[in-house]
This record gives sequence, C-alpha cells and structure tokens, in this order.
Amino acid sequence: MERTLVIVKPDGVERGLVGDIISRYERKNLKITYCNMTRADEGILAKHYSEHVGKDFYNRLIDYMQRGDIVVMVLEGENAIDAVRKINGKTNPIEAENGSIRGDYAFIKEENLVHASDSKESAEREIKIWTGEV
Ligand code: TYD
Ligand code: MG
Repeated sequence: MERTLVIVKPDGVERGLVGDIISRYERKNLKITYCNMTRADEGILAKHYSEHVGKDFYNRLIDYMQRGDIVVMVLEGENAIDAVRKINGKTNPIEAENGSIRGDYAFIKEENLVHASDSKESAEREIKIWTGEV
C-alpha cells in the first residue's frame, strides 16, 4: 500500500472547502490514516519546501502557507501518490483539468488550495516532517 502526504492550504480552510476536498479523496476510496489541523511555522515549511529554496516564488509561498490554519493528512491506497495528484490537478490551476480540485476552485498558482507528495521518496520524507513518524 502506498502513502502520500496531503495538505489543505490556508486558502482551502479560509474558503470552507475542507469538507469538499476530503470527500473527493474519500470518494476515490483513499484511506485517511492521519489528519491534523495546525499552523505551519517557517522552520517546518523550510524543510517541506527545501527543493524550492532560492526560487523567485519561495518567500511568497512560505508567507502564504503561514497565513492561517492548514489541514495535514496522510492518505493511503494503491497508487495513492499519482491518484491524489490527479485529483488535485496541475500546479497552475488555469492548466488543471475541470473536475480536479485546482481546476474547479482556483485560478492562480500562488493560491492553489492543496499540496500532495510527488514521489515515494518525497512522501516518506514529508510524512516524517509533518507527523514525526517514519
Ligand atoms: P511545485 O512543487 O512545483 O508544485 P506542486 O504543489 O504542484 O507540487 O511548487 C510548490 C508550490 O509553489 C505550488 O503548489 C505553488 C507554488 N508555486 C508558485 O507560487 N509559483 C510557481 O511558479 C511554482 C512553480 C510554484
Ligand atoms: Mg511539489
């Protein structure tokens, strides 16, 4: 069974989309094995987004992710990593398919509602960062 780390970002919580977003994963039959509403600090975000340090969007991304509550989840299922990225849609919501979370509800990549791990390695790394478990 594969695991992936998902975050409903501050705009998702602010806009009251948490229930809608979670139900899309549940309808796909992915299992929620961890779920925590929290606030991210700069330290944890620097680890989480270490691959993006130094990019032009990095500082804005780190500020945005600290703007409000987030919901951190671990989802489990066969091919969970690819399945969740498909449900989320492309990074730039303008390119995201209709029917995906970003395609349906977002229009700028700076506020694209959700995060999901992009590989097995990042999933295990991110799960460790956010839940403390391996
Ligand atoms: P990235 O890991 O490329 O996308 P994804 O979340 O789909 O894995 O980028 C991380 C986040 O950084 C992305 O969700 C939104 C933000 N971002 C920007 O604000 N501008 C950009 O040009 C890119 C590539 C990302
Ligand atoms: Mg990414």
